[in-house]
Amino acid sequence: MRILVTGAAGQLGREVLEKAADRGAEVLGLVRGEGVPGFACARADLTDERSLQRVTEDFRPDAVINCAAWTAVDAAEAPENREAVWAVNSTAVKTLALLCRAQGARLIQVSTDYVFGRTDDAEILPEDEPSPLSVYGKSKLEGERAAALCENHCVVRTSWLFGKGDNFVRTMLRLGRTHASLRVVSDQTGRPAYAPDLAALLIDAAEAPRRGVLHAANEGPFVSRAAFAQEIMRQAGLKTQIIPVTTAAYGPAAAERPANSRLSTDCLEQAGFSRLPDWRDALSRYLAWEKENG
Ligand SMILES: NC(=O)c1ccc[n+]([C@@H]2O[C@H](COP(=O)([O-])OP(=O)(O)OC[C@H]3O[C@@H](n4cnc5c(N)ncnc54)[C@H](OP(=O)(O)O)[C@@H]3O)[C@@H](O)[C@H]2O)c1
Repeated sequence: MRILVTGAAGQLGREVLEKAADRGAEVLGLVRGEGVPGFACARADLTDERSLQRVTEDFRPDAVINCAAWTAVDAAEAPENREAVWAVNSTAVKTLALLCRAQGARLIQVSTDYVFGRTDDAEILPEDEPSPLSVYGKSKLEGERAAALCENHCVVRTSWLFGKGDNFVRTMLRLGRTHASLRVVSDQTGRPAYAPDLAALLIDAAEAPRRGVLHAANEGPFVSRAAFAQEIMRQAGLKTQIIPVTTAAYGPAAAERPANSRLSTDCLEQAGFSRLPDWRDALSRYLAWEKENG
């Protein structure tokens, strides 16, 4: 199988590239800047339609796994960035979808819990009505709709992604080493997704015929950000005290965050995919990796 991985230098894209190659797929990473050592990569900006066409026509992928996105959620709110956010999170997905459709390739589009803006505490099903609160969330929702222009597509929404990049876990570890206490919000609830575990699911999704929307995060209990931070400190052996605060008390951020990020992952089993491992186990694997390489 030939798999094109966009955003291949990103936190998730790297893992997808590595795992797909491990499984024997012929992989090509699409990067905007530096390539990924050890992997074939093509350099192109996702917003450059001609380059995308050239790369896909040369490589002829069976599947494209789109891990590229504008992911700086607060910066996305700045009026001067909106056009660029929209170009990569929405317009470029449309281009990819049309290219995939024309070339008979399958499109796997990675999306986010930020397409929801709910304050209830029910689990969110893939078919529930989206209600994004932020520019990032709105642009990703448009990206989902654009992906559907390729009939053979699957949207995989995930939440609280962490891996070998800048993310909540790394921030907590860095701050935990220098602070006796940390204020962390306790009214945003969800489940983390570990990039290598999610990468495996994305490749399963690329190989399977299932169409539509899936929700994917690691299994285990839903937790608040504060409870997640407490578990990070506990597993890392840090004594930092986590002080739970409300989002309002924490102070304003440019982009409003969803309070409810409880993505129901029952759809994975129903669609014949394996559920991801418990996030507490994923966290311990990540911390072991950090200890060795971080
Ligand atoms: N991080 C989270 O907590 C989270 C949660 C839910 C869903 N997601 C979704 O998961 C996916 C992967 O996220 P991530 O954390 O791996 O993101 P990331 O580390 O920020 O990686 C995104 C990648 O996209 C590339 N990219 C951005 N604009 C581009 C353009 N115009 N042309 C080509 N490449 C471009 C970036 O390239 P450069 O390296 O050159 O910047 C980067 O490599 C995204 O779809 C995101 O929306 C993330």
